[in-house]
Amino acid sequence: MHRSSVTFFLAASLLVSANSSADARVDYLLHCAGCHLPDGSGVPPDMPSLRGDPGKIVSLPQGRDYLLRVPGASQALLDNADLAQVVNYMMTEFNRDSLPADFKPFTEKEVAEARGRVLADPAKLRAELWEQYEARETTLLQ
Ligand code: HEC
Repeated sequence: MHRSSVTFFLAASLLVSANSSADARVDYLLHCAGCHLPDGSGVPPDMPSLRGDPGKIVSLPQGRDYLLRVPGASQALLDNADLAQVVNYMMTEFNRDSLPADFKPFTEKEVAEARGRVLADPAKLRAELWEQYEARETTLLQ
């Protein structure tokens, strides 16, 4: 998209954003889509897709925390309430199929607590979480 059409699109979205999910979409486009693309598909392997895996990761004890602590999320120039909305938008828009039925939306308080602990090595924790996820799935299938 040409830059001026992006600006027009964002301005139009801001004008019509009467509810928080529209605001969350605009914030996602401004703060995350540059790397993860507007539809969350990313540019793997450098910029991971946000479609599918976060819905699986969120069900692990340390997983919720991880999703808030990755540098792209924790260091975004958004306040805690807005970041919670953006991450919730990511979960419900891009992870509909993998989201656990008992998923509870991220709260401002939870974001405030987690984002201060920015992950120095996201790939390492992700590998550990993924191992836990696969081990649990294998146990459930037996
Ligand atoms: C400058 C590029 C960039 C921006 C902007 C960015 N991210 Fe990321 N994101 C990454 C990279 C790279 C990773 C892989 C982990 C790492 O190296 O930080 C990642 C990983 C993630 C993950 C973990 C995905 C997984 O499956 O492990 C989540 C969730 C995430 N980002 C959410 C966001 C959100 C929400 C925003 C906007 C508030 C955002 N990111 C902005 C580059 C970015």
